[in-house]
Amino acid sequence: MKRPRFAKAASAGIGRIEKASSLDKPSYAVETAIARPSQIAGSPAEKAGNVLHGTWYGHPLHPMLVTLPIGAWTFAFGLDLLAVLGLRSKGVERSAELALKAGAAGAVVAAAAGLADWQHTNGRDRRVGTAHALVNTTSLALHLASVALRDRGHLGRGRLASAAGWACLLVGGYLGGHMVYRRQIGVDHADRSPEPRDFQAVLPVSELEEDRPLRVEIRDEDTRQNIGVVLVRHRGRVQAMGARCSHMGGPLDQGWVLNGSLVCPWHGSRYDLESGWPTSGPSTCPQPRYEVRLRDGMVEIRREQEPGDEIVTAADIDKVPPLPDGVSFSKKANEVLFEHHELIRQLFKAIKNTPRDDPQRRDLMRILASELEIHEHVEDHIFYPAVYSVSEDVPIAHSEHRQLADLLAKTLKLNTATQEFEEHLQALYSAMDHHAGSEERSMFQEAQRLGDARLRKMGQELERMLEEQRTSRAQRMFRDLKIRLLEGL
Ligand code: FES
Repeated sequence: MKRPRFAKAASAGIGRIEKASSLDKPSYAVETAIARPSQIAGSPAEKAGNVLHGTWYGHPLHPMLVTLPIGAWTFAFGLDLLAVLGLRSKGVERSAELALKAGAAGAVVAAAAGLADWQHTNGRDRRVGTAHALVNTTSLALHLASVALRDRGHLGRGRLASAAGWACLLVGGYLGGHMVYRRQIGVDHADRSPEPRDFQAVLPVSELEEDRPLRVEIRDEDTRQNIGVVLVRHRGRVQAMGARCSHMGGPLDQGWVLNGSLVCPWHGSRYDLESGWPTSGPSTCPQPRYEVRLRDGMVEIRREQEPGDEIVTAADIDKVPPLPDGVSFSKKANEVLFEHHELIRQLFKAIKNTPRDDPQRRDLMRILASELEIHEHVEDHIFYPAVYSVSEDVPIAHSEHRQLADLLAKTLKLNTATQEFEEHLQALYSAMDHHAGSEERSMFQEAQRLGDARLRKMGQELERMLEEQRTSRAQRMFRDLKIRLLEGL
């Protein structure tokens, strides 16, 4: 079995850092050194903290600021490389030094934002964060040393120092990437289920006490999870937001109300009860919000849509305009596509049942490739745009098409008589069957919301396009050429 050696070695290295408890004592001493003055300064320090976290702009600030040293120091490194390769001029030298200084200034600001976020980490994440800070501080020191050496006329040594600093930057970036992409520090931890799409009764109003957060749960059948929602009665109104804190997943239902905000018990982020937006960090991301109404003594909630949400609601379905009376076509779109799925399944069977050394296997493989391509084309051009307003499955269906195209390209390159081809053919079949099966189980059902007449009209358009794709000389030539190119001519 192939092993990604670098990834394994890096993962083992980071694992050692994560277990390095010797980093804890100094790191908590640093945290105390940051926390005490802020506690003494009070509100101005809190405001400064919110600026550094990025609470004011809705995203962590640190990732944006790190682009300053990365960009400037990489630019300087590139100029040094050009100079070493022979492009020497005073202008290049001056530009490199200027970039080093600009990068150093950016690094200091980025470090301040990073420090503000880091103080709220603990355990293994804090240790990796400490290592990340130490490596980046070394990088800063080397870049500053480079500037000093260049100023004293030691250009060669200055370039060596900044090259070493740039290498440290890569290591620091790797550690930072581990914290975000592997350990999910700084990403949104709230549950953003679209449920409930319509008002759902969750609790008798009488059970809510003023300013006492209470957790209720709703069910998301798609993900098969229960989603926690925290209800708060405040000044006579009931408010609802996601119970899992977007900062690091703290239980907001165990928090408390202060100045019209709900405070997270873990790191003290405060969320405005009316809007769900953080009024104070470290959180930068709003909580999912729910509309609330009181009916028959019960609290009913409905998920509020967020900008960019692609959630299908009953209101969206009502917006689908009806077709005029008297319009009638034969098959519905889902029936046409289902038939095509079946044809593709039969083609797979035919290839499997053809002896390995029979050259007909290659011909059948080309027909299969052609039909898969046609299928993707008609779905992308007719079906998906039409069902987008009534089904949330379209984005994943596009991803599955890409997955199928990649697998098909790999399979076409193989000798059809080999075991490797058999394995790839099976993988391709599994990917196709999964894609077709999930459309048949979910998207085709949701498409019924478009109405019978519209689906039949679309069915006719699909049949027309299928026919056109198969019979058009130009389309056939283009497809054949593509298949031959994928086969390696
Ligand atoms: S989990 Fe950190 S503030 Fe809520």
